[in-house]
Amino acid sequence: MSSTGNSTGNKPIRPSTGAAHSRLFSVGGYRPARVVTNDEICEHIDSTDEWIRTRSGIATRRFALPEETIQDLSVAAGGKAIAAAGISPEQIGAVMVASCTVTNPIPAAAPEVASRLGAVNSAAFDINIACAGFCHGVALGSDMIRAGSAEYVLVIGTEKFTSIIDKTDRGIAFIFGDGSGAAVLGPSEVPGIGPVVWGADGARASAIEMNGDWVDKATAGERAFLRMNGQQVFRWAAYEMAPVARRAVEVAGLTLDDLDAFIPHQANMRITDAMVRALKLPAHVAIARDIVDMGNTSAASVPLAMETMLERGEIASGSTALLVGFGAGLSFAAQVVTIP
Ligand code: UT7
Repeated sequence: MSSTGNSTGNKPIRPSTGAAHSRLFSVGGYRPARVVTNDEICEHIDSTDEWIRTRSGIATRRFALPEETIQDLSVAAGGKAIAAAGISPEQIGAVMVASCTVTNPIPAAAPEVASRLGAVNSAAFDINIACAGFCHGVALGSDMIRAGSAEYVLVIGTEKFTSIIDKTDRGIAFIFGDGSGAAVLGPSEVPGIGPVVWGADGARASAIEMNGDWVDKATAGERAFLRMNGQQVFRWAAYEMAPVARRAVEVAGLTLDDLDAFIPHQANMRITDAMVRALKLPAHVAIARDIVDMGNTSAASVPLAMETMLERGEIASGSTALLVGFGAGLSFAAQVVTIP
């Protein structure tokens, strides 16, 4: 190899260089106005308010208006996060919309969202990895900032489950809700986002899936709906996610005692409780329990729960939180972050 390039004499490609470290600058959420009670859900399924509260922890969830789009929800949360970050939209180098409920795949939701937010110098793309989507976005955004492909990154988790839920499906109708949560990530002099522990198990893809191909269903004059093997997902999440969470703390060079907060995906209160027990989390660690009011909002649940904990004073800016996203795929991603 010559000193000016490779063995064929080409000049070397200049690598990108980024910030030493990354951190969360802000979080912002959008909760659709309509509060839906368990009693309203039970108008369509054979269930009770008490059963739903006991088995899932959910008291209410939010439903978006039929005309509210994934993009509308994302712009509302993303705009709040940008304002709280104290940066201008033009400084954002990448906008990601994590969602599994985008019903029209072309074009992706993110370009419109970036445009409406004024992020005119930004790459914009969607991530579809369900309830693990926000934590995947945080991992990608952190690496992009450190590699130099973006200075600031907006990660938005948005779901509109009302588009794909069969309200007569007893195993699913009460669990999911609509909402959006966003975070701005940017450069930092000290590490604010730990290494990600992530993975997927496609062998168990059928645990949560649509009940058929959208196009085939439409051709047959039917609608495609979400289906879930609740018990299978419950067992996987309750028993296999604690080791993932523990590993995320270890690779961040911390112990569970160093945590101030645990913010897992809000799937089911009993799953959160099982993880807390399995991890033997110290009593001082604040636990996210946003599922009570919001139900399971998949990719939106972690940032929404973080915002709620900040608003209620359960966590303070600068504290250390363990995030764990998990769900359809099956898929998971976990990391330790400093709360913005
Ligand atoms: O977001 C990531 C992916 N999703 C999740 O993480 C969700 C994971 N799964 C779950 O949260 C739980 O499996 C559910 C909340 C969905 C269901 O709770 P479960 O404790 O696993 O209920 P089950 O399916 O084991 O059913 C227990 C009983 C059954 O009756 P029998 O056979 O014991 O008489 C069901 O028929 O509860 C019955 N049941 C219901 N009863 C009243 C099932 N659904 C309902 C219902 N209302 N909606």
